[in-house]
Amino acid sequence: MSRTRTGLLRTKSIEQSLASGDDPEFALKKNLTALDLTVFGVGVVIGAGIFTLTGRVAADYAGPGVVFSFGIAAICCALAALCYAEFASTLPMSGSAYTFSYATLGELVAWIIGWDLLLELMLGASVVAQGWSTYFVTLLDQLGVTWPASLGPDATFNLAAFLLVAVLGALIAFGIKESLRVNLVLVAVKLFVVLFVIVAGLFYIDGSNYTPFVPDAAGTAETGGTWLTAPLVQLLFGIEPQVYGVLGVVSAASVVFFAYIGFDVVATTAEEARNPQRDLPRGILGSLAICTVLYIAVALVIVGMVNYRDIDPEAALARAFIDRGQDGIGTLISAGAVAGLTTVVMTLMIGAVRVFFAMARDGLLPVRLARVDRRTGTPLTITIGIVVVVALVASLTPIGKLEEMVNIGTLTAFLLVSLAVPVLRRSRPDLERSFRVPLSPVLPVLSALICFYLMLNLSAETWLRFLVWMALGFALYFVYGRSHAKLGRAEAGAAARD
Ligand code: ALA
Repeated sequence: MSRTRTGLLRTKSIEQSLASGDDPEFALKKNLTALDLTVFGVGVVIGAGIFTLTGRVAADYAGPGVVFSFGIAAICCALAALCYAEFASTLPMSGSAYTFSYATLGELVAWIIGWDLLLELMLGASVVAQGWSTYFVTLLDQLGVTWPASLGPDATFNLAAFLLVAVLGALIAFGIKESLRVNLVLVAVKLFVVLFVIVAGLFYIDGSNYTPFVPDAAGTAETGGTWLTAPLVQLLFGIEPQVYGVLGVVSAASVVFFAYIGFDVVATTAEEARNPQRDLPRGILGSLAICTVLYIAVALVIVGMVNYRDIDPEAALARAFIDRGQDGIGTLISAGAVAGLTTVVMTLMIGAVRVFFAMARDGLLPVRLARVDRRTGTPLTITIGIVVVVALVASLTPIGKLEEMVNIGTLTAFLLVSLAVPVLRRSRPDLERSFRVPLSPVLPVLSALICFYLMLNLSAETWLRFLVWMALGFALYFVYGRSHAKLGRAEAGAAARD
């Protein structure tokens, strides 16, 4: 057993973590295969990022250079994915980065990560649900049906987003295997549409759109940009805020990073995998590889079809075809986006439930919430709570630019997981690792550095919001989590007996 530390740095030993899943009252069903996990991964990864963000980022930040941005973000994610895969194969427990950091970096870091992941997953689900509602209304319109504007994406109450979250919430509460079956069908539709865009788009590529591939850097002052919207790194180094050019390509990478988010959510379902040591690394790396290839291909096709200055920032893929008289293809793409974004919302919510579950089971959040319902085999109370919050945020908040918030939280988790790999290798060399990151500690440290650099490329306003978020997290931990943690109580009990 590892040496036990007390207070903020106390760690939950690997054995303690693995034992948490043994209590039948808190145990999840072990149903998922490697294929299920890969489908689950692709289901959450391909979503609003490729369907909406690619166009906006190409137009506003990088031009055709967005292809490089996808490459940079993919390298960052691949390195982090290796670290996640090692952890998930060593510690296949619900809760992902939260659980990993509890075992290595101590309770306070684990709390912050868990709390952060929780909000990121819920916020991510809300943002994608809003994006879904825009596509849904567009699709209805293309089919000749008018959705009332007073209940649409731009209204005070976004009924479409609310209904989506409510229906998906019911599916999740019913049981994860059932949800994955729905997921499988929707993922197949989404993959077909993405492949279709790539193949059909090839016929419309105009080579002249690739020059210049990386447009010259341009200042943002004339487009209304302020210091709040400028990337933090440009402010720190006193660079006049700018887009395009090399700096634009890198800031675009920190934004399109959103498109890759989700492969890490595979790790949150670890406890439900039939053979987690073997299948989790396959699920994580497999889904990331598939998405990387598809993204780079889609990005190349879109910036080849349409000059980056003319790309529609809302529905780039559909519009590129509609503008060429291919309305049918446009409708097909909208339908694919509706299916695609559905699975993303669902999977992000499943991830949020799992992280909350792991934290509650440890006593950092009220433990009674973590009871697993006997009939459905899922933590019902937590599921209902999370679905209600996501439904309200999605339906009542205006459609904004919250993707960056999701990115900064996820990058923080990636950074800490990367650092945790060499820490755990040193503290527990004895543990069986069916998957090992090559060249540790070089690759994990490189992973952490790239994550940090991408974080610095996010806007100053995102950093400000993130700091508020972190401050709230600290407050919650000191008011509740610290005194209620099962680990702390066990230590206190042992001390009293001595
Ligand atoms: N990667 C997910 C998306 O692009 C979050 O929607």
